[in-house]
Amino acid sequence: MSGYVHPVDVAVVGATGLVGRMMLRVLEERPFPVRRLLAFASERSGGTELTFQGKKLQVRTLTEAALAGCGAAVALFSAGASVSRTFAPVAARAGITVIDNSSAFRMDPDVPLVVPEVNPDEAFRSNGIIANPNCSTIQMVVALKRLHDRYRIRRIVVATYQSVTGAGARGLRQLEDEVSGKTVSGGKFPHPIAYNCLPQVDDFMEDGFTREEHKMMDETKKIFGDDAIRVNATCVRVPVRGGHSEAVTVEFEEAFDEQEARRLLKNTPGVVVVDEPKERRYPMAIDAEGRDEVFVGRIRRDPTVGSGLSLWIVSDNLRKGAATNAVQIAELLLKSPSKAQKMVHEGTRSATKEIL
Ligand SMILES: NC(=O)c1ccc[n+]([C@@H]2O[C@H](COP(=O)([O-])OP(=O)(O)OC[C@H]3O[C@@H](n4cnc5c(N)ncnc54)[C@H](OP(=O)(O)O)[C@@H]3O)[C@@H](O)[C@H]2O)c1
Repeated sequence: MSGYVHPVDVAVVGATGLVGRMMLRVLEERPFPVRRLLAFASERSGGTELTFQGKKLQVRTLTEAALAGCGAAVALFSAGASVSRTFAPVAARAGITVIDNSSAFRMDPDVPLVVPEVNPDEAFRSNGIIANPNCSTIQMVVALKRLHDRYRIRRIVVATYQSVTGAGARGLRQLEDEVSGKTVSGGKFPHPIAYNCLPQVDDFMEDGFTREEHKMMDETKKIFGDDAIRVNATCVRVPVRGGHSEAVTVEFEEAFDEQEARRLLKNTPGVVVVDEPKERRYPMAIDAEGRDEVFVGRIRRDPTVGSGLSLWIVSDNLRKGAATNAVQIAELLLKSPSKAQKMVHEGTRSATKEIL
């Protein structure tokens, strides 16, 4: 547990979901200082069991009192936006630092939107709630960070190829049922997903873009702290189990050197360059699944504009796109002695209040 001052109690809200289960796995894999893990889910799962660090873990039904009194220093939320809107402020008021995977608070100016490789300092200006960006946004900004620092990105055009696990357990079930020939009624997606591509991720808005596309367009500006970046996104659901892929073209303010751009990508924290097209080596979702890095390949100059670069970016949406990023944010805070001290003190205070 090097670098940590305090072991802490950690609450996972939505622990039975795809992201929640991945959070437990990521917490087990990393040298994260978990003293006690508290798993919360809906009434449907209350009393069921998960496994953490080889031991059985009872799932608790999420209620305001149970959460506020649980004594955790940090709560990782992944139970959807409406649950976060209700329960994240309850936890924050009880002194529990919330790291929220939903879209509920991402564009709130008072809530930092954090990707540790890109804007780690933002995590320290939170008032109790920190937002984890959308999975498609995270992998794109990790890949583009150093290029943006060096050449100033002015425009991004991105098309995504998003896996079904990005839509939670019901999305995965629909694909598996369709592939195995089962009749699917009341599926997660509005059309069959097996052997198909759906140019719709989340609901449509007045301007013809979907909410998912707006998340990429808006969150990118907030994370880079640069309102001048224009982003045009088309988000597509594809019949892939895990791992989102993205075809990205960026236009820079400044002229760039392709070899230097490759070097910058190779030296970008969290990025692995896989780009040997003649050997047919490029990032693929099946290779990214189970990994924490963001993979970048198909790097080439865009010949249609003055200073543009095209890339193919792939990452595991449940890991770097959700669980790993959230755990990394908690690690940042807990490695700061003064912040960790405060978090432990306030979490303990919440438990004491419940007992009294
Ligand atoms: N999947 C991804 O790649 C991804 C990436 C980034 C962010 N996210 C975000 O993470 C969140 C969870 O996604 P997921 O893919 O894990 O979905 P999921 O597999 O459908 O899991 C949803 C979880 O939320 C819990 N839940 C639902 N309603 C609840 C309630 N009223 N009270 C307490 N718990 C409740 C469920 O508990 P039960 O088992 O009891 O129903 C389950 O644990 C969403 O906000 C999503 O937007 C997902």
